[in-house]
Amino acid sequence: MPTNATLKIDDKEYPLPVMIGSEGEKAVDTRALRQASGYIAYDQGYGNTGSCESQITYLDGDNGILRHRGYPIDQLAHYSDFVETAYLVIYGELPNATKRKEFGQLLRKNAAVEMQMQKILEGFPTSASPMAMLSALVAALPAYYPELATNNFEKDLKNFDLAAAIAISKIRTFVAMIYRYQKGLPFVFPKQELPFCDNFLHMMFSEPYKDHVPVPEVAKALNLVLLLHADHEQNCSTSTVRMVGSSQANLFTSMSAGISALSGPLHGGANVAVMQMLQSIHDEGDDGSRFIAAAKSGSKTNRLMGFGHAVYRNFDPRAKIIGDACDTVLTRLGIDDPLLHIAKNLEQAALKDDYFVSRKLYPNVDFYSGIIMRAVGIPMNMFTTMFAIGRAPGYIANWKEVASNPKGRIYRPRQIYVGPVKRDYVPMSNRA
Ligand code: ACO
Repeated sequence: MPTNATLKIDDKEYPLPVMIGSEGEKAVDTRALRQASGYIAYDQGYGNTGSCESQITYLDGDNGILRHRGYPIDQLAHYSDFVETAYLVIYGELPNATKRKEFGQLLRKNAAVEMQMQKILEGFPTSASPMAMLSALVAALPAYYPELATNNFEKDLKNFDLAAAIAISKIRTFVAMIYRYQKGLPFVFPKQELPFCDNFLHMMFSEPYKDHVPVPEVAKALNLVLLLHADHEQNCSTSTVRMVGSSQANLFTSMSAGISALSGPLHGGANVAVMQMLQSIHDEGDDGSRFIAAAKSGSKTNRLMGFGHAVYRNFDPRAKIIGDACDTVLTRLGIDDPLLHIAKNLEQAALKDDYFVSRKLYPNVDFYSGIIMRAVGIPMNMFTTMFAIGRAPGYIANWKEVASNPKGRIYRPRQIYVGPVKRDYVPMSNRA
């Protein structure tokens, strides 16, 4: 394995160390380049930049591989559940029976939300974006738990277990509260005895004097959707968590920033965009060819939603798992969703089309996740908040890595300035 690379600029050579990850990923360490040469490494959007070393998730986009702490995503999807996978992602190992029980209990104990926090939610117009409300509620957590959110890594790490449990458990409760608030329904308190997803369904769908009785298939499907979102390496929102965390901001504040980043349509909002696209194909009685033709125009606003991925140049392994689960879940629930048929036809058409094949554009996790969520009764405007519940363990694990790194420094990229060169101030009377 090489240990050094050399960068030659004109006739001057600069030796740069080479780094090799545990799965053989290769990098050239350019940290000292600017000091040695005056040059920086330019990489708009960081598409070819390693911003950190991480032990959490391994992703090989060319070969469609995703592993958390070494465990392949298909094995986790098959054998594990969301809470166990959350533990794995955060703590690095699968829990033994005692640890699993303790973690579950900590989540259950911290599910309820303070009455005062309910007032924050009630200050929002009911038409507000659920992601805006969720991000604001998470941003408010440091005010309610100041001892867990001191903005001092050493102190915050001492209380990390509790802060992590609060974040995971309450984000789920917030989502149920946001749903009910928007529908004008009274909030439902969590029940300590219920497992994570059943408790969520209880808080979402219980009626006055009539508790929601979760259907096992529904809780299982929800578990799968959340598990498949648990972490995904240095995506836009997780990198945001790391960036904000690198300033020594506490876990809740950093997660709130991540949730804001997740709200964009090219990231967490894509599942909504996919459903809107499928719905309009359905409403127009089209076979999807209009969308495919428009997507091929190259315009960013007409992309085939749920297709393509910033790092996968092969099948997104989560898309395969969730696509298969769609069939099973809908059959078990006795649902025949026309949007699933449209999605499958669209997928087949795109996979035969040279535009998508040559650009290695395959369905991503969002292509089918919306169909499952719709089947289990989650309304479309809440989809991205579901993604946020699922991604919470990844945010937490990444924040912890930043906070625990004794050699860590504040994230501070550089830029190439291309604006006007120095010019003198022009008084108002002389301006055109
Ligand atoms: N439909 C049509 N064309 C596409 C699509 C798409 N969905 N995605 C990429 N392309 C085209 C681009 O126009 C570009 O074409 P060109 O080479 O002729 O210029 C080529 O494929 C390469 O695309 P990039 O822009 O380099 O892809 P990038 O890595 O920047 O973007 C992204 C990835 C944002 C996910 C993009 O594929 C996209 O917009 N997809 C639709 C939105 C979506 O599904 N997002 C969810 C992502 S998964 C997640 O966040 C959980």
